Amino acid sequence: MNRTIKSCCSRWRRKAAGVFCAALAALAAGCGAAETEPPVLRVGVALYTQDDTFVSTIAAELERMAREEEQERGMRINLSVVDGRSNQTTQLEQVDSLIGRGCDALCVNIVDRTAAVLIDKARKADVPLIFFNRQPVAEDMLRWEHAYYVGAKAVEGGVLQGRLVLEAWQAGPALDRNGDGVLQYVMLEGEPGHQDAMLRTEYAVKTLTDAGVAVEKLASDTANWKRGQAMAKARQWLEEGMGDAIEVVFANNDDMALGAIDAFKQAEEDLPLVVGVDATAPALEAVAAGELYGTVRNDGAGIARAMLDLVLALADGSDPAGAVELEDGHYVWLPYRAVTARDLEEKTP
Ligand code: BGC
Ligand code: CA
Repeated sequence: MNRTIKSCCSRWRRKAAGVFCAALAALAAGCGAAETEPPVLRVGVALYTQDDTFVSTIAAELERMAREEEQERGMRINLSVVDGRSNQTTQLEQVDSLIGRGCDALCVNIVDRTAAVLIDKARKADVPLIFFNRQPVAEDMLRWEHAYYVGAKAVEGGVLQGRLVLEAWQAGPALDRNGDGVLQYVMLEGEPGHQDAMLRTEYAVKTLTDAGVAVEKLASDTANWKRGQAMAKARQWLEEGMGDAIEVVFANNDDMALGAIDAFKQAEEDLPLVVGVDATAPALEAVAAGELYGTVRNDGAGIARAMLDLVLALADGSDPAGAVELEDGHYVWLPYRAVTARDLEEKTP
């Protein structure tokens, strides 16, 4: 079985390495090669949905970086981006079609983390598979040597968000609005079942309790990463009279943090301390405006860079570990970084 996989992969590498030899030949020939078609690398990019602020940032970065690589390498990189519309069946059909059209590598933002069948499809077709942002189940990743995951560690995102709140709590009594020594919070959660929703939620709070802070959860609900849904939930909490009692709003991402801010502003309630994750452009504006206390940068550009480096290394037939920092042969981890108004000030001279 293993031998079959290995020989398949080396076949793929040979084919792909050919792409690069041709690219080099075309470059060496210089202007004289006007009629030579540049070699083409075809990359299928399957998004769980196009309607997601952070995920569409990654896709845009990938597109931009691919154009740069084309210039540098004298080749074409065709990205076929498809929108899974949050439906795993749709995404599987799209992957079938991308494979059928002969793509050289797949970058997949999987709809349902447990859909291991996707790995089997790519393995059978001998197409390297790079998951990103939505992390498949660890055991499934072992089903194929050319399955990779590029993303940030969900636990780290939660810990950094928790630390932002911890620092504010320790900075003085202002955060404890009712002066009872307990931190009253609400939690806006991402999609149920998403590693980032589960672990950010758990570790943001754990960071506070581990540091000895007494906390009280007033309410929590999922808003599926969406600003509109978060605004509706927060509005409901405000209508239930929670406005004065909420000291902190934890949101698993920035869009939901902004949704909560929308609701407080609309209800003309004083803003509590609100924290998000991602550091999207509108979130950084809200940090600068003093409405969002802080966020945790989710490195979308770093994810795109690592995916492209992996694709190019695999296509080149070289060891992917030489192109990216590979953990356990399958994982590329991008670091998170906390961002508050202080960090923005430091940047602007
Ligand atoms: C991001 C969210 C995004 C989600 C999609 C998370 O890592 O923080 O903004 O909606 O991924 O999978
Ligand atoms: Ca309190």
